[in-house]
Amino acid sequence: MGQYNSGVDETEINLSSLGFWSLPKESRDHAFAQLRQKRPIAYFDEPDWMFTSDGRGYYAVTKYDDVFSISRNPTLFCSGRGAVSIPDLPPQFLEFFGSMINTDDPRHSHLRKVVLRAFTPRRIELLDQRIEQLAKTLISDVSQRESVDFVAEAASILPLKIICEMMGVPADYEKYVLDRSNIILGALDEEFLPAGKTVEESLIVAAVELTALMEEIGKDRIANPKDDITTSLVTASVDGEALSASELASFFILLVVAGNETTRNAIAWGMHCLDRFRDQRDLWFSDFEAISATGVDEIVRWSSPVIFMRRTATTATSIRGVELAEGDKLLLLYGSANRDEEKFTDPDSFIVTRKESRHLGFGGYGPHQCLGAHLARRELHAIFSEVSQVMPNYEVVGEPSYLFSNFINGIKHLEVKPNAI
Ligand code: HEM
Repeated sequence: MGQYNSGVDETEINLSSLGFWSLPKESRDHAFAQLRQKRPIAYFDEPDWMFTSDGRGYYAVTKYDDVFSISRNPTLFCSGRGAVSIPDLPPQFLEFFGSMINTDDPRHSHLRKVVLRAFTPRRIELLDQRIEQLAKTLISDVSQRESVDFVAEAASILPLKIICEMMGVPADYEKYVLDRSNIILGALDEEFLPAGKTVEESLIVAAVELTALMEEIGKDRIANPKDDITTSLVTASVDGEALSASELASFFILLVVAGNETTRNAIAWGMHCLDRFRDQRDLWFSDFEAISATGVDEIVRWSSPVIFMRRTATTATSIRGVELAEGDKLLLLYGSANRDEEKFTDPDSFIVTRKESRHLGFGGYGPHQCLGAHLARRELHAIFSEVSQVMPNYEVVGEPSYLFSNFINGIKHLEVKPNAI
């Protein structure tokens, strides 16, 4: 179980220490259970290892009801003061990362409307055939191999290709996008941090390079508009004006990064869970379509690929008796909320037919609720549909290689034998 067992005092848990994030997931889950029980709104000093700092600590919000209600009250708990990351972002970072996720209404809803249409269930339905065809090809290729890194060969490719096609990014640039989004969301992990570079330098270089790609595609789309999201961005009129250069850059980066990193990890966790909990694999695969909707959502609940988003108190208030001042930061810990024993029966168990409580893996149903949730669900459905038909007896070999991050709950590599007995 690692460091945090039932004998440990919850005051020893420190979410701001790097050591905490290198613990096995079970240990972290156990620590969050203690926080939910004893200190559901727990204060932590600012980490001393981040690429930037503003000296302010944060409150960790670990209970489902609190994450839910804070998400739905943007007037009191906003996204647009500083950022949704732990430190407020300095201006050179806001230029690339100050996207709509870091804004509030009315600007937020105006920006969201620019791309909303591309992500509606009806619109995604039009992509279903493409998603299914890609999943079929990927899983068929994987199944020919004796042993394969499922993340490299399938989990990372489907969401990457789909979001690149939606954005209008040429296929030649998919690897370029993947490498840069790995840096943006995985910069704490040595595997993704370019040698000899600091986290700060690496983030800026990756963002500048993605911006250059957006500018190249955008220039073409102004002259030759197409039915893709980059065309929607460069031709948008928001409050009577075109998007600024920095809004364009940060929008593009948000979409390409969010569109591939999160779903990749959900797919990898799904493979891992269905290997670990074989009875659940047998149950789901025995009647795939009937169980798929709850199975897919259980993968997202159980794994919660996005660990947190921050909100900032806009005025003095209190939650569960904890007094908050204006400007106080709150981290909404989705994975912890998704294991809240007051909401989920046997919350640590992976149960593909689970129907109770809507999970918070895509956010707390406020204005920033994940724009790509429907797309992610279709991608997960397509991959596992193919796995259930083509390689239902697969086996994971050894331990997955986990991403070292306090923001993304990721699996970097997952060795799979497609045709184990
Ligand atoms: C399993 C996969 C995914 C998970 C777990 C996930 C999770 C989340 C979470 C937790 C949020 C924050 C919600 C909030 O603050 O209330 C979010 C926001 C967002 N997600 Fe996802 N996401 C996934 C897939 C995707 C995909 C495929 C896209 C496609 C581009 C996407 C685009 C976005 C965007 C644009 C936002 C910001 C929305 C806004 O600020 O209005 N996500 N996501």
